[in-house]
Amino acid sequence: MFNQIKNQFAEFVLSKPRKTILDFETPLVRLETLSKKLNIDLWMKRDDLAGPSFGGNKVRQLEYYLGEACSQNADTILITGAVQSNFVRLAAASAVRFGMKSIVQLEQRVSKQDNNYNHSGNVLLNNLLGAEIIHYPEGEDEEGADRALYVLAEKLKKEGKNPYVIPLSRNKPPLGALGYYRCAEEIVGQQDSTFDYLIVASGSGATHLGLVAGMSLLSPSTKVIGSCVRRDEEMQTERFRLLCELINSFSGCPNFLTEQDIFLWDKALEPGYGQIGPLAQNAMKLMAQNEGHLLDPVYTAKSFAAVPGLISDGIIGAGSRVLYVHTGGNAAIFAYQNEIQKIMKK
Ligand SMILES: Cc1ncc(COP(=O)(O)O)c(C=O)c1O
Repeated sequence: MFNQIKNQFAEFVLSKPRKTILDFETPLVRLETLSKKLNIDLWMKRDDLAGPSFGGNKVRQLEYYLGEACSQNADTILITGAVQSNFVRLAAASAVRFGMKSIVQLEQRVSKQDNNYNHSGNVLLNNLLGAEIIHYPEGEDEEGADRALYVLAEKLKKEGKNPYVIPLSRNKPPLGALGYYRCAEEIVGQQDSTFDYLIVASGSGATHLGLVAGMSLLSPSTKVIGSCVRRDEEMQTERFRLLCELINSFSGCPNFLTEQDIFLWDKALEPGYGQIGPLAQNAMKLMAQNEGHLLDPVYTAKSFAAVPGLISDGIIGAGSRVLYVHTGGNAAIFAYQNEIQKIMKK
């Protein structure tokens, strides 16, 4: 049964159109100082280096969306996300590569009015990349935000354009997750021995889902833990359960992922999406001041906080071999400069 699912899932991934945007393997590096400090064997997958325009995890997901868009001869990419969305910025950069226009819809997910948040970081880069920026007033209405894009797509079709919508809502097939199944293959090819734990951000859940799918087939003794960056553990568990069902039916492997594959940790999420609580602040400092690597306040500070957090919770034991997947997001640091300056003064 296991080998049948393994082969069937690998064939399913190969059957989907993909456009190469990331043309190298991202490095797997050992974090020497933090390994000593935390008393574990800590490694980091540098997916912050993946792809153009400061890179990030969404590039591997976009390889599949752009693959589908190109197979439909699309000329315009439509995407929605938070004002400081890295996904939107990377979609704009990737669209350029394939000669497409991009229209990016920015949602008010965070009640912040400052100039840096609204104009610097990823917003500045969207402009530089030539994206057309439109706005959506809600931040917690995924279906509504998608609907607005589909309405716009219909209008563009009437004008003779061929638009492609990258959907956000959780009931669409999780195509982007396939990029992280491929990342799991890459990790397994790079590792010299098996990791006990893999820690990654869980937002839309696509990165986490792809890694769970990949590691459960290719390195089954590695426990993949998603650190919640968008919703609390209860809500993210519900979302992830649905994503598991979707990928099972999408791939034609109905008995593949189950409840047993879901591990989430949400203690660094507070006080909420896009806001930096104490555990995330400590994580940013811990990484910057011991390893010289940067974490962003929205995603990676929260996901990395799970490493010391799970050690204090007694889940990750001394000497464990741990892989942290750095998913990028550094462009947003400049949008949060006021908050970061305050943290540094503490
Ligand atoms: C830098 C960064 N890390 C992690 C995530 C979460 O990834 P996912 O939405 O696939 O769960 C995002 C999502 O936008 C992101 O931009």
